[in-house]
Amino acid sequence: MTTYKVGYFVGSLSKDSINRILSRALLRVAPPELEFQEIPIKDLPLYNHDFDADYPPEGRALKDAIAAVDAVLFVTPEYNRSIPGGLKNAIDWASRPWGTNSFTHKPSAVIGASPGKIGTAVAQQSLRSVLSFCNSPQMNAPEGYIQFVPGLFTPDGEVTDPTTQQFLTDFMADFKTFIERVTTVLPQR
Ligand SMILES: Cc1cc2nc3c(=O)[nH]c(=O)nc-3n(C[C@H](O)[C@H](O)[C@H](O)COP(=O)(O)O)c2cc1C
Repeated sequence: MTTYKVGYFVGSLSKDSINRILSRALLRVAPPELEFQEIPIKDLPLYNHDFDADYPPEGRALKDAIAAVDAVLFVTPEYNRSIPGGLKNAIDWASRPWGTNSFTHKPSAVIGASPGKIGTAVAQQSLRSVLSFCNSPQMNAPEGYIQFVPGLFTPDGEVTDPTTQQFLTDFMADFKTFIERVTTVLPQR
């Protein structure tokens, strides 16, 4: 069995984050070929290009963490119809210094939860645009817009609704297939 390492970003820094709960659910239903590690974003300073001459340890750790995985998964809230600033800051760090963009050829998938019915759809479009510029091949479908209603998940990520459970299972199975395809045909940098 070929295994793939997946680094996942949780776009929320909140201790009660519903997206963190969603990330737990995704890890539970993922196929055994996928191995996960979180790529933390909360300790990164705010990026500016003065850092490019000598990246601080937090920036280097982020880039090393992405280099060590075969693919990245973004589980993010929607903030004001876009992605939270903390997540955008992390992506900006990873994309630089110029010429060392960590997302080049790195397969990605995007999913998120909100209490509202459109389930982070607008934020995901915004994130997809950023990832396109960062040259990350993205899983186009399925799209994962999760409306987080009370009781749908237990705090440790058990899914109580069979339809949602199946959807998330299929989402992760498709992600595994996507990673397999991309890493077979695209050289990793
Ligand atoms: C600054 C801010 C902006 C928000 N903007 C949106 C929004 O544009 N769309 C939406 O569906 N929910 C929005 N929300 C509500 C979030 O979906 C909700 O707080 C959710 O729990 C955040 O995810 P988290 O629990 O993983 O942090 C916003 C919340 C905050 C704090």
